[in-house]
Amino acid sequence: MRIGVLTGGGDCPGLNAVIRAVVRKGVKEYGHEFVGFRDGWKGPLEGLTKPLNLETTRGILPRGGTILGSSRTNPFKIENGVEKIKENLAKMDIDALIAIGGEDTLGVATKLDALGVKVIGVPKTIDNDLNNTDYTFGFDTAVNIAVEAIDRLHTTAESHHRTLIVEVMGRHAGWIALHSGLAGGATCILIPEVPFSVEKVCEWVESRYKSSFAPIIVIAEGAVPQEGDMITKDQTLDAFGHVKLSGIGDWLAGQIEAKTGKEARTSVLGHIQRGGTPTAFDRVLATRFGLHAITAAHEGDWGKMVALHGTNIVRVPLATATEKLKTVDPALYKEAEIFFG
Ligand code: F6P
Repeated sequence: MRIGVLTGGGDCPGLNAVIRAVVRKGVKEYGHEFVGFRDGWKGPLEGLTKPLNLETTRGILPRGGTILGSSRTNPFKIENGVEKIKENLAKMDIDALIAIGGEDTLGVATKLDALGVKVIGVPKTIDNDLNNTDYTFGFDTAVNIAVEAIDRLHTTAESHHRTLIVEVMGRHAGWIALHSGLAGGATCILIPEVPFSVEKVCEWVESRYKSSFAPIIVIAEGAVPQEGDMITKDQTLDAFGHVKLSGIGDWLAGQIEAKTGKEARTSVLGHIQRGGTPTAFDRVLATRFGLHAITAAHEGDWGKMVALHGTNIVRVPLATATEKLKTVDPALYKEAEIFFG
């Protein structure tokens, strides 16, 4: 077979590890050929390719980002987008696609599968919000980057008796905030799934000062105050209708200063969480996903996504990955609350 590979949506560490595993096993064990599509769905839409073989995928395991490039292109928002993709695949003699992506990329893959395109999905995102897989790769790396930042902020917060707020990514799921906040010993963790009370946050801040430690608050970019709506600096939407998040950390700092009189400052970790080398956990998970994805393609098991269930890699219907957002269970959040304040 000739198989096209693409990476779409926000990049994350581990994408190259998947590509490497797909190509290595696909060539050595099954004798398939590969075509790399550039920049997510833009690649098959516009016929933008890159050679993908044993040579071009050597040495990429520890590299962050994606050698194929990525984009948030939505072919369903482009006139005749699906027809163009089908035409290009036929022109290039491509039998099937392996799409590595999150909610949006796999949402497109699901629709294309229903329209007769042979496709296998691989779940990636630092947000860890894809349904029907216990973890996505990229998440562990993002959490570790956030924990390192929190550890560093603790010492400077204590020197200056300041409240420091760390705003982390995760869109409408609080996974990065919950895991990094727990691992980093945060004074409190604020996630989108549980609207927070500013009054309560101020109480936790005051109580942390009493124990002579400076408070560190971890807040997810999508966290929402009980008193109002989601706060963002930028209201523009991307091709999938997502608003650009960020801004809630600064807003909360203003509220804390006004209500407690204590100095509060915010560090927005932003894209730092998506950059650089993947952790060992993400390298292994991404590699295993790649190995299982090419086997699923070899066996013609189209319309599936590889997923982690416990410690096993399984195949699940692609459609189930995006049928709902995997958010943090409030019971899990409750476990963390004992450390707040
Ligand atoms: O989905 C991954 C993610 O990093 C989110 O956590 C974040 O809200 C979004 O992408 C940022 O997107 P962009 O890189 O397009 O600004």
